[in-house]
Amino acid sequence: MSFNKKTIQDIDLNGKQVLLRADYNVPLNDRGEITDDYRLQQSLPTIRYILGQGASLVICSHLGRPQGKPNPSYSLLPVAKRLKELLGMHVEFVPECVGERAQKAAENLQPGQVALLENLRFYEEEEANDADFAKQLASLAQVFVQDGFGVVHRAHASTEAVTRFLPSVAGLLLEREVDTITNVMENPKKPLVAVVGGAKISDKIDVLKRFIDIADVVAVGGAMGNTFLQASGVKVGTSKTEPDDLPLAKQIIELAKEKTRSSKFVFYLPQDGVVASKIDKTAKTRIVDWSAHVIASVESYPKRPERESGLVGHDEMILDVGPFSGAFIAGTLQLAGTVVWNGALGVTETPGLQGPVGPFAHGTELLVEAMTGQFGNRPFSLVGGGDTVGYIESRGLLQAFNHVSTGGGASLELMSGRKLPGVEALENK
Ligand code: 3PG
Repeated sequence: MSFNKKTIQDIDLNGKQVLLRADYNVPLNDRGEITDDYRLQQSLPTIRYILGQGASLVICSHLGRPQGKPNPSYSLLPVAKRLKELLGMHVEFVPECVGERAQKAAENLQPGQVALLENLRFYEEEEANDADFAKQLASLAQVFVQDGFGVVHRAHASTEAVTRFLPSVAGLLLEREVDTITNVMENPKKPLVAVVGGAKISDKIDVLKRFIDIADVVAVGGAMGNTFLQASGVKVGTSKTEPDDLPLAKQIIELAKEKTRSSKFVFYLPQDGVVASKIDKTAKTRIVDWSAHVIASVESYPKRPERESGLVGHDEMILDVGPFSGAFIAGTLQLAGTVVWNGALGVTETPGLQGPVGPFAHGTELLVEAMTGQFGNRPFSLVGGGDTVGYIESRGLLQAFNHVSTGGGASLELMSGRKLPGVEALENK
């Protein structure tokens, strides 16, 4: 099914003032510098298109969760500076979203000019989806364009209520995100493989269920994989797990078993892992094969391996999938038509431990290589947003995938089949 909402290409923007909702919720370092500008980069085609039509542009966004109060640590000023560099033109920063200064700034804008408002979440009315606040925002323009894919799963004043006061259409990024993700979920080139890592099962329960329903293989890893392993009886030592998620893990395992009985479906839990007693480059690591003792058998042949060699020690943590699991997942991708990936398979977020030199990033690296066709087959690759994107951006590999989503929660909700309030509110084609 193709995108059924009007977009900026369906309306006349010439001479109009446009209110654009972007998702510029970007990570900042201690010095307030943007460490990953992927979301900004991805919004540029929409901005350029709107300006190219002879319109003027008031952009709004949130950043972080400042709880409805102004807080300089969450100011969008660094975003205005970066946007200026990326667009190569002046971007007027307006330190408010509504009120006299915002009105003045909006009135002064000429066609082809851009202003960026301060963080929407400095006002508690934003998250409360307050109609008055939305009306004031709407009064800054004649057309509303939603392009903040990362935030359309929220019904907030700048995603839902604002559409009651202005003609409201989608930007190019929103259209591409919704189109691509929906097509993959509804009409993937088979076989479809889903690789799901990261921390919490509870965040991804619906998407896991959907993948069990539609995919041919679902492989899990990361801290989430540890919780699944624990639920299936593997000793995980001091590994990061989510004890509250154990019942969910058992429920998912049962669901997967049922599917396996009636089809060729595979639900893959890591069969081996890289373990260490601390998360450190210098930590002594072991490869533990808790399922088959195959490595230990080979290593100690013809002697029988020590039973302990196949167990995670009391003081050890599983920090990455092991070589068998990595090879299984990469091997599966050699047959895949489509692969969807969300969440790292091991510890990849600690600076200095990333990339091929990182002792706990080999599983994720292997997955990335397999997804991007380095072993032959190149499946259609969709990467769900969030931390996964930060990782592949830091590796300079964004271009190697077919689609890297700018949305974290939003992409998971869309994959789960949920309606997104910020998309539903837009005008139909
Ligand atoms: C995100 O980063 O997922 C979006 O910007 C939404 O942010 P939120 O989870 O704070 O609503």
